[in-house]
Amino acid sequence: MLKLVICLAIASLYVVGAVASPALRGDDSKDVLTVSHQRGSVTCPSVCYNKKARGMVKARRDCKRKLRFCEVRDCKLKGVTPGLTCGKIVATPTPVPPFLPPGATATFPKSRVGEVISFKVNITVRGGSGAKKEDFYLLSDATGSMSSAIATSRARFTDVVRRRSKVSGDVAFGVGFYRDEEDIPFRNLQSITTNTTPVFAAINSLRADGGLDAPEANLFALSQVATKDFIGWRKGSRKILVYFGDNPGHEPTCPDGVPLNRTTVIRQLKAKDITVVATSFSPGLNDATTSAEGDNPRRKFACGLGGKRMRGGQATAITSGTGGALVPAADQASLIASIIGGVGDLAQTLRVDTSDCKGKVGFTFNPKQPLKISSKSTLTFSQTARILPGACGGATTFTCRVDFKLSGVSLGMQKFTVNGLKGC
Ligand SMILES: *[C@@H]1O[C@H](CO)[C@@H](O)[C@H](O)[C@H]1NC(C)=O
Ligand SMILES: *[C@@H]1O[C@H](CO)[C@@H](O)[C@H](O)[C@H]1NC(C)=O
Repeated sequence: MLKLVICLAIASLYVVGAVASPALRGDDSKDVLTVSHQRGSVTCPSVCYNKKARGMVKARRDCKRKLRFCEVRDCKLKGVTPGLTCGKIVATPTPVPPFLPPGATATFPKSRVGEVISFKVNITVRGGSGAKKEDFYLLSDATGSMSSAIATSRARFTDVVRRRSKVSGDVAFGVGFYRDEEDIPFRNLQSITTNTTPVFAAINSLRADGGLDAPEANLFALSQVATKDFIGWRKGSRKILVYFGDNPGHEPTCPDGVPLNRTTVIRQLKAKDITVVATSFSPGLNDATTSAEGDNPRRKFACGLGGKRMRGGQATAITSGTGGALVPAADQASLIASIIGGVGDLAQTLRVDTSDCKGKVGFTFNPKQPLKISSKSTLTFSQTARILPGACGGATTFTCRVDFKLSGVSLGMQKFTVNGLKGC
């Protein structure tokens, strides 16, 4: 249901003499044309005065006298001197349907090359989600200093399960931990599953232990969770990775001889549309860091650099770089509450994939994509579709699709139909 707003719908018109006439008596007066104009959502079936003959002041006076609720405005009619219109304001019979949500179909009424249709789109992020399917992986720093955060996780993880299940009908969880590179750099305790029994068993098996120098194996662990198939991220799910700790990861780190740093790990996470939320305890995930020391028994992590210093800000880079957040926690005992709040408050990124329509139908969005949508809010934006000359030469009747993706998850497709393409 798409209709262009027609500003000057000429019902019937008759050209008139340019001679000034006495006060207007009606639509059949000798110096008027019957036209209509649109004003907001109302249509004015109106008269068009000859501007030269009447002049603005007289036209206003005549208009007011004749039709109390009408206004005078310029009108341009083909072949006629620009004039002024005065019309009665009446409600438009059928309001223009301006919304085209994902999942709806739009048909170009004329199917002509160059034809443009415009509408609005509303996207709502409900209760911190919007995705029907969500995967949530908890990655714990399991070094000695984390014992009270781990105890909180054991006691309260059930709150996470309850809260995330409420906003997304189908939630799956996974659990893993990291220590230092020369210790256990990463272990996946439970791959992503909707069965919470083994998830709770995995959390209960977490033990705080080890960790030698200050930096740990954060980057290596994040990279593993992003890239290893055994983690079990589900297709079409919103993917959330939560990690917590009190020190940054060694950086760079070279598990396979190839250096991993914050930039490369962010790239791996983004490739999977994984959003990272982190909680940092003192001294902090954002502290300055180093590559592993040269005398490290697991030299493979050292990158041959032996304690090269790196700047701070690692966790901020990773969380903001993946559309997530670094959420504060007053103390380790409030870890789970902080995670629940932080994940619930995440803004989400909307990206519109128009590749299916490429070269055939062109789109513009206002504001431009990608768009950030705050949690628990609705964003309305404008979308315009135009039939491109590139559509010529193919099938004259076709439909192409536009995919709306929120945090990488499809909200549904808009379909654009051209029936019997003309104007090639
Ligand atoms: C779109 O969102 C606006 C603002 O929240 C609201 O007024 C309007 O009713 C919504 N329209 C649709 C079709 O959802
Ligand atoms: C991160 O690693 C890549 C690839 O090895 C490198 O090009 C880049 O300069 C590194 N970035 C930093 C900040 O060290």
